[in-house]
Amino acid sequence: MAILKLTDVHISYGNIKAVKGINLEINKGEIVTLIGSNGAGKTTTMNTITGLLKPFKGKIEFKGRDITGKNTSEIVKLGISLAPEGRQVFPRMTVIENLELGGYTRTKSQIIETLGEVFDLFPRLRERKYQEAGTLSGGEQQMLAIGRAMMARPELLLLDEPSMGLAPIIVELVLKAIKKINKLGTTILLVEQNARMALMTADRGYLLETGKIVMAANADILLHSDKIIKAYLGENKED
Ligand SMILES: Nc1ncnc2c1ncn2[C@@H]1O[C@H](COP(=O)(O)OP(=O)(O)OP(=O)(O)O)[C@@H](O)[C@H]1O
Ligand SMILES: [Mg+2]
Repeated sequence: MAILKLTDVHISYGNIKAVKGINLEINKGEIVTLIGSNGAGKTTTMNTITGLLKPFKGKIEFKGRDITGKNTSEIVKLGISLAPEGRQVFPRMTVIENLELGGYTRTKSQIIETLGEVFDLFPRLRERKYQEAGTLSGGEQQMLAIGRAMMARPELLLLDEPSMGLAPIIVELVLKAIKKINKLGTTILLVEQNARMALMTADRGYLLETGKIVMAANADILLHSDKIIKAYLGENKED
């Protein structure tokens, strides 16, 4: 059974239709990526899964349960959390305060346990736990955004453009951490504009173009598809 299933989901901002009837499934244990260019509707989809936006048509199921239209805190409690686009850490709060906020639905002892796990995954955050988040580097802020989402101990972790604006070496580090989180048992939906990296990390992928899914396949098939190579992998294309 799919852990997450979107059926004919439509999302609009007033009169503007941003997502036009998408179907998407994620199985337990997978890393699935949603790729597509600027404005394709990736963030809109992520924000709808987490209840920040409501679809005007369609159904979202999590572990067989209808979560369409539920509010965000209910959805977090059920086991989905999001590291949002642009990180959105609280700049005047310390690293540890940001992380504690991510665990707001949990008990103190659970928070302490998961804090240890997050620090093991991102030792840089442990070194900087009393530093104000706004003074962290971009890569460190991304680690913090992922760590904060992990504090809810999600079964499904949504990552919206974790590579954005990071130097290649930091991107590597973040991707390694994403794979490790997945190996430890968390299912992942990864949104990326960087199609190459996303497809190299994921098991399967969906290509979103102007609000519609136009391709869905195993990641290695997408990585070698002419259409994806031409439009999304640019000059670094593989032979
Ligand atoms: N609050 C909003 N009000 C009106 N239109 C919006 C709003 N947010 C997004 N849109 C529009 O919805 C469409 C999808 O936007 P979305 O942010 O989901 O794209 P995206 O795939 O995440 O793009 P990017 O890769 O640039 O982050 C775009 O045309 C965008 O202009
Ligand atoms: Mg986006």
